Amino acid sequence: MTEFSVKGMPPREIYQILTRLVVPRPIAFVSSLSKDGVGNLAPFSFFTMGGLNPPSLAFCPVNTREGRVKDTVQNIEATGEYVVNLVTRQMAEAVNESSRAFDPGIDEFDQINCTRVQSSIVKPPRVAESPAAMECRLFEIFRHGEGPLASNYIVGEVLAIHIDETFLEGGLPDTAAMDLVGRLGGDDYVRLSPDALFQLARPKED
Ligand SMILES: Cc1cc2nc3c(=O)[nH]c(=O)nc-3n(C[C@H](O)[C@H](O)[C@H](O)COP(=O)(O)O)c2cc1C
Repeated sequence: MTEFSVKGMPPREIYQILTRLVVPRPIAFVSSLSKDGVGNLAPFSFFTMGGLNPPSLAFCPVNTREGRVKDTVQNIEATGEYVVNLVTRQMAEAVNESSRAFDPGIDEFDQINCTRVQSSIVKPPRVAESPAAMECRLFEIFRHGEGPLASNYIVGEVLAIHIDETFLEGGLPDTAAMDLVGRLGGDDYVRLSPDALFQLARPKED
């Protein structure tokens, strides 16, 4: 085994290694609004669910290479609301486009091929092209580190879940049918295709 001693290693190099190891990562396509109401869209693959009581999600925008806190973090800090939209293969190019560093005054819904749908509870709109979306209220932002690539863990509570009924099977989401994509290292993505799946029943307690 080759050991990489991370102490003193530049954050960009650690990024290249860890993003190839912690895989596959689901993608949160996050819609938020600035305090002046300007729409923002950005994908984040440092994303997971964290609990159910209350339903809890976390995602992590890291600071830019220059050490700047990203617009998504600033918006959520200012408004306390956002929507996590899921990403399909068909949406992947537009989602990738939205990861450009747009000027904060530009509404990204107008720049990207994404359609706004009014949310039920929160102010930021959700994305019509997405087969599922979760309206969220901020619980807390945990800063871990400072400067370039330091993390801002955004923990939020899910207030409402929207699912395209085409993808409901017996009242539950048919995930494989949604053609969702996940992120790996470099430029690699993975497609959640039915032939990639296998089943294992949970062990029975004696
Ligand atoms: C598929 C994908 C996943 C990404 N995941 C992350 C992530 O987890 N954390 C992060 O800080 N940036 C991530 N990025 C880059 C951000 O989307 C990008 O910095 C974006 O411009 C941030 O937008 P904002 O400044 O409007 O918040 C990702 C980009 C792509 C294309």
